[in-house]
Amino acid sequence: MHHRPRRLRRTAGIRRLTAEIRLHSADLVLPMFYREGAAQPLPISSMPGVVQHSLDSLRREATEAASAGVGGVMLFAVPEERDEVGSRALDPAGPLAVAVAAVKQEIGDAVPVMADVCLDEFTNHGQCGVLDSAGQVANDETVARYADMSVVLAQAGADVLGLSGMMDGQVGAARAALEQSGHPDTVLLAYAAKYASAFYGPFREAVDSQLDGDRRSYQQDPANRKEALREAELDREEGADIIMVKPAMSYLDVLADIADSMTVPVAAYQVSGEYAMIEAAAASGWIDRDAAVLESLVAIKRAGADIILSYYATPAMLPAFAR
Ligand code: PBG
Repeated sequence: MHHRPRRLRRTAGIRRLTAEIRLHSADLVLPMFYREGAAQPLPISSMPGVVQHSLDSLRREATEAASAGVGGVMLFAVPEERDEVGSRALDPAGPLAVAVAAVKQEIGDAVPVMADVCLDEFTNHGQCGVLDSAGQVANDETVARYADMSVVLAQAGADVLGLSGMMDGQVGAARAALEQSGHPDTVLLAYAAKYASAFYGPFREAVDSQLDGDRRSYQQDPANRKEALREAELDREEGADIIMVKPAMSYLDVLADIADSMTVPVAAYQVSGEYAMIEAAAASGWIDRDAAVLESLVAIKRAGADIILSYYATPAMLPAFAR
């Protein structure tokens, strides 16, 4: 027998030498939640180990993550008050702008500070945009608000803006507004292929979402694969610097397609429900938690992600891997 593929699997050293990919802490971006007015961190029951931060604990965890070498932090905010049009999202003194400024002050340029550009945390109906008279999310009015929100967050110090609303033309509008307001270097991370997914469930608890209904008229249909390439191409033309696929684990085919066809960095978001499933199964003793966490991250990277947003990027939650 000439061919014995098992030769390359015999010892840990040989396996390590011949591994096709390896995880690095710089691949991982930690999403974090700031709850306006919180005096101490509050647990999120469906995401054990993840919290709604106070400003102090947000600063602390961001600093720890930066020292552990994460590739970035992605900030979300939970406002004290909500309205029809998500006004607090555009307020320079609103919770997301405040969180960005606080974290930026703490970690500077060492690790990029990213912020979510979307209205869902800020509206009293929980949709990602403003509603028209028929109760539908109005695309162009929403995009105009994202553009203003982008400028506010860039002003607050965000290095990267995550456009997660799935409105048509949102990347182009944000890019134009940033150019016009003197922020030509702000990086746009476009959630090009964001699917209408049940795996966002725990996130809704994390941001106290007021949503009653679904987002199927703007997020993508899980049945569609080619449509994701179309969305990614449009976002590129509009000025996206990084293209994201979300969720990650149920969409590895889409991720692989986009990674193959794009020349920009590609990100994938291991979302709240993916995290919750691993945690719940591990807590029941049904899977080996650390092995499952590492396998899931390796799989996402193998499929083509250059960058992985994951709640496991936090130093306390991440099992050790070769750095
Ligand atoms: C929208 C947004 C969502 C997530 C990230 N950005 C929620 C949604 O679209 O329903 C979900 C992230 C997760 O589930 O971990 N602001």
